[in-house]
Amino acid sequence: MQCMELNNLPDLLEQVKPCTNEGKVATYIPALGEANANDIGIAIYDKEHHYISAGNTEVNFTLQSISKVITLALALMDRGTDYVFSKVGMEPTGDPFNSIIKLETSNPSKPLNPMINAGALAVTSMIAGEENEEKMARILHFVRDLAANPKIQYSAEVAISELETAHLNRSLCYYMKQNGIIDGDVEELMDLYTKQCSIQVNCIDLARIGLVFAMDGFDPYTKEQIIPPNVAKICKTFMVTCGMYNASGEFAIRVGIPAKSGVAGGILACVKGQVGIGIYGPALDNKGNSVAGLKLMELLSMQENWSMF
Ligand code: DON
Repeated sequence: MQCMELNNLPDLLEQVKPCTNEGKVATYIPALGEANANDIGIAIYDKEHHYISAGNTEVNFTLQSISKVITLALALMDRGTDYVFSKVGMEPTGDPFNSIIKLETSNPSKPLNPMINAGALAVTSMIAGEENEEKMARILHFVRDLAANPKIQYSAEVAISELETAHLNRSLCYYMKQNGIIDGDVEELMDLYTKQCSIQVNCIDLARIGLVFAMDGFDPYTKEQIIPPNVAKICKTFMVTCGMYNASGEFAIRVGIPAKSGVAGGILACVKGQVGIGIYGPALDNKGNSVAGLKLMELLSMQENWSMF
């Protein structure tokens, strides 16, 4: 398939647009509440014909949980798999992304996977660097490389908005500190985590990042192996098993494409050896996934026969 042939993309978008009325913009991070619930956009990058896009592709939005895949890749490159998985597990939870329950009931106490908030916070604590400034610069540099966009920044407004209200995430950190999963200063970790979640992209950036994952860490345009293949493979496996929170099973059945969503409305997806997909639709269902984005992924996967199963 060459994505330039996907010339009915605007029609698919029109088809799913009414779904934006079925969801709600996230407001638990107050700054996210400013998004336009009816926005929906998509970009698809392939390895030869660049990208196609439709809808609100120019809107910048924050990565939120999509950043968890990116920091996981960086932590695996910084620390190696043995260290990372000594602190964070590999199993899906079936619980909401911010749940604390399994931290208390699992023995030994460690977050079940790097895609839930507890696991992602632990992973962020592993990013190499002296101070937060250096760590954040490394994360940003990595995202810019993956998206081939040196202008990518984080939104200080969204980061502060989350930092001021993230009491549940703070409690996850203190619980993990008590149990030896993380050490160091919790406020410092919260500062870095909220900044990583606030990195701003548009659908085209996201599709380009997806393409690198689709190509097992290789950027077909720059010919650079940005992520080692084994690390890209681990990240994509988590995208399948836990990428859409506690809707990952249904997503695997309906869509069958490794993907990661975020509460700002983004979906990052990758079809092995073929395309990267970036979607933005801030109206979310009750599990935190973009309602119109999910429908769009389903239609696309059926039409292009993209399911990996
Ligand atoms: O930690 C949070 O709640 C947000 N910064 C990210 C949440 C999100 O996108 C959903 N998480 N899996």
